[in-house]
Amino acid sequence: MLPISTTRVCIAPPIEDGCVSDTSRGPAPESQAQLAVRLSLPLWAPEEVAGCECGFLLFYDHACLSLQQNDQNASGPLCVDFEDATLAYRQRHSRQPEAILKALGAKQGESLLIVDATAGWGLDAFVLASAGHRIDLIERSVILHALLQDGLRRAAASRDEGLAVIADRMTLHLGESSLKLQGWGASLPDVIYLDPMFPERRKSAKVKKNMYLLQQMLHDELPTEALLRDALSLARRRVVVKRPAHAGFLEDIKPSFQLTGKSSRFDIYLTRNSGSG
Ligand SMILES: C[S@@+](CC[C@H](N)C(=O)[O-])C[C@H]1O[C@@H](n2cnc3c(N)ncnc32)[C@H](O)[C@@H]1O
Repeated sequence: MLPISTTRVCIAPPIEDGCVSDTSRGPAPESQAQLAVRLSLPLWAPEEVAGCECGFLLFYDHACLSLQQNDQNASGPLCVDFEDATLAYRQRHSRQPEAILKALGAKQGESLLIVDATAGWGLDAFVLASAGHRIDLIERSVILHALLQDGLRRAAASRDEGLAVIADRMTLHLGESSLKLQGWGASLPDVIYLDPMFPERRKSAKVKKNMYLLQQMLHDELPTEALLRDALSLARRRVVVKRPAHAGFLEDIKPSFQLTGKSSRFDIYLTRNSGSG
């Protein structure tokens, strides 16, 4: 059986000519064939791509590992780009603390140990790491994990020293979070963050391109039955769950309190787990 999330993805030839994106740094770190072997994915030669029936293509776009839907009407490729202008703006010019930072409940200047157990594109984790916290990111999709690994590699090598410092606070793990949390051997996290939410499947201006692509690729994966319960037994201080504004509670467990926004909310579960760590 192929690992989770890989059955409909294949490796396409790299794009190396034409306009070089701002985020590119030198040549791709591996060949198309090496990438295919590393991720155990089928490889498509340039002349075969037109007939490829995979739903998604994974390839190096000017040294950035990128994912694109294999559809004539698909939007352009997406990669994990921590140098992205929108993220940088969010990070440097936010007028008020982001709701996700409020949800952590950190004291002024305090640096927390956080586990983001549903890493996705790593955007929330990046906001948390930018605020000075150390984050372990867990992602079970080998595709998303590979995209994150590539984004972190470029961020660590960035000429922007601030970005490299933020990347250094982020440690990536591949696997099913429930299992990882049950066997957690490192220091106990202060906070565990869960964002298993997906927007509706239809394409709309409200659904961001990256979340739409993730939804298309991962929609048939089952939610983990007791992820919140596992998180609650490990986190020292709290578990923060991001939910669509009108959705029910994750695993039907009532939170201690909520922070509510227009389209989403944070359900906050206070814990009192002691133990050395
Ligand atoms: C909605 S996305 C998270 C988006 C993320 N917060 C961000 O800012 O980019 C959910 C992600 O969690 C991953 N995921 C869901 N359940 C998981 C589990 N039990 N273990 C590990 N990863 C999981 C999915 O593969 C998907 O990539």
